[in-house]
Amino acid sequence: MSSNKTGNNNNEKSCQTTVDSSEDKQWQNLYSKAKQVSENAYAPYSKFKVGAALISEQGEVFTGCNVENASYGLTVCAERNCIASAVANGTTQVTGLVVYTAQKQLTTPCGACRQVIAEFMSPNAHVHLVNHLGDTQQWRVADLLPAAFTPQNLKDSSHTDLTHDNNL
Ligand code: THU
Repeated sequence: MSSNKTGNNNNEKSCQTTVDSSEDKQWQNLYSKAKQVSENAYAPYSKFKVGAALISEQGEVFTGCNVENASYGLTVCAERNCIASAVANGTTQVTGLVVYTAQKQLTTPCGACRQVIAEFMSPNAHVHLVNHLGDTQQWRVADLLPAAFTPQNLKDSSHTDLTHDNNL
């Protein structure tokens, strides 16, 4: 999908790609699902509501929103809740993820979320950032978290026996 409107200026590494119309429809669907779920965000402290939607390799769609806590530190971001929902439903192969906020400046995933994204998405998969103005920005997972520590690192380790785990 081409994205010629960007909502902020931290896009040195963000990419523009062309996709066919069925893929475009899938992204549009994720945009609207992410927007929808952002309305359920529990963000009484920051008032910063975030929605995330993903599509799996099998074409299933899952959503999540940020859930804050009076302890502050136990807040969980929309991206991680979205991925956790997919995993709880038996899905670990994420092929696309959207992050929505009603903010002029597009919201990039925090460091913790980037690590979780790298666990379940391939380096060449895309994360789209979108907002209420229709601005979009696309990132490759590998650009969001270069040199990520991934399951592959553990697999290559002679100290770790992961042969029991079919998913790795
Ligand atoms: N937040 C997300 O849900 N995702 C992000 O990518 C950035 C931050 C949430 C956490 C917290 O509830 C609020 O936004 C302010 O940081």
